[in-house]
Amino acid sequence: MSADRSGPVGVAVIGAGKISEQYLTNMRSYPDLDVRFVADLLPDRARATADEYGVPGWGSTSEALEQDDVEIIVNLTIPAAHAEVGSAILAAGKHVWNEKPLTVDLETARSLLTRSRDSGLLVGCAPDTFLGPGLQTTRRMIDRGDIGRPLTASMVFQTPGPHRWHPNPAFLYQQGGGPLFDMAPYYLTALTQVFGPLAGVAALGSTAATTRTIGQGPLAGEVFDVGVATYVTAIFDFRTGEVASATFSFDSQLTRLGVLEINGTEATLAAPDPNHFSGDIKIIKAGDEEWERIAVAGDGIGRGIGVVDMARALRSGGTHRATGELGLHVLDAMLASADSVERRSFVDIESGFTPIPLLPAGWDPTRRVV
Ligand SMILES: NC(=O)c1ccc[n+]([C@@H]2O[C@H](COP(=O)([O-])OP(=O)(O)OC[C@H]3O[C@@H](n4cnc5c(N)ncnc54)[C@H](O)[C@@H]3O)[C@@H](O)[C@H]2O)c1
Repeated sequence: MSADRSGPVGVAVIGAGKISEQYLTNMRSYPDLDVRFVADLLPDRARATADEYGVPGWGSTSEALEQDDVEIIVNLTIPAAHAEVGSAILAAGKHVWNEKPLTVDLETARSLLTRSRDSGLLVGCAPDTFLGPGLQTTRRMIDRGDIGRPLTASMVFQTPGPHRWHPNPAFLYQQGGGPLFDMAPYYLTALTQVFGPLAGVAALGSTAATTRTIGQGPLAGEVFDVGVATYVTAIFDFRTGEVASATFSFDSQLTRLGVLEINGTEATLAAPDPNHFSGDIKIIKAGDEEWERIAVAGDGIGRGIGVVDMARALRSGGTHRATGELGLHVLDAMLASADSVERRSFVDIESGFTPIPLLPAGWDPTRRVV
């Protein structure tokens, strides 16, 4: 990647919905990024969002693609639009950061990465929570041997479902959504940083109801169809032989989430919620009766740090960490899980990813570097 420009990197956002609130708040506090444009299918929404966050430009997707002072475009559209919007961004000569999942099928995900390789433009993919201090500290502890040899892991995410709180939740119950595609990216991404690439999966799933009713906001009371499994339970193995179990559910009246426990030969470690950037780590060593709690600093760091890492890589000519290749691998694992649910059999996960280095100690997105 050539470093032919200098100073903060111009950014545009496409998709001014719910998650844009977090991105825009955070990205405006990261001095290596300069947010210059907000676009949406709905022009009024783009304008209102730009006004609210003090972004100078707003308009349509094609206008976002024409901005000369924009180098990275952050694609916060719904999953079904990720491939089309992402490839339009690359075709316009801009680097792309896609929210998760990278796309909703392997073919479009692969073609996005091929286009990225051919053009020399970067593709980054959420989640970037694994770059937060919580999961970076977790990985440092495991890498230095605090739990001995990592053996197995358990993941649990169960809630009544996001139709209760999301203002426009239908997409979360269609292809590219459901508890698997919406939430597994956080858990699987975190585990791949400990165990490496996944090798296979066996999963079962079910759907509690064929419709849901929007709980809050201007569309409250509206009923929409459910097109995916709303409960998925899976066992995964990794290329290096370790095994993990997972439950991802929108069908539970009990909310229990953020469970990511890694069992090693010497200790069990409970990581912070992988959907968060920080939080306590707990560890229980052989012979201990109680968890030891390890506080992790890092409040104030949130969504968008992967974009900062990309921006710094652009300026230094180095590599970034939340790669499209990792996003494709996690998508592959989720598609294999959905396939396993359909076929009631084990499914191989063929893709892999280049190992991703830890961030340097003291890495701080709120400090000006470029
Ligand atoms: N809401 C969350 O808490 C959350 C958290 C993490 C990640 N995400 C991810 O962020 C993405 C967006 O989620 P959201 O909750 O903000 O959704 P949303 O429905 O609230 O917002 C999506 C926005 O994208 C716009 N849009 C849709 N298709 C478009 C297209 N083709 N071109 C331009 N604009 C388009 C819509 O008009 C809407 O304003 C999803 O991939 C989701 O998985 C959401």
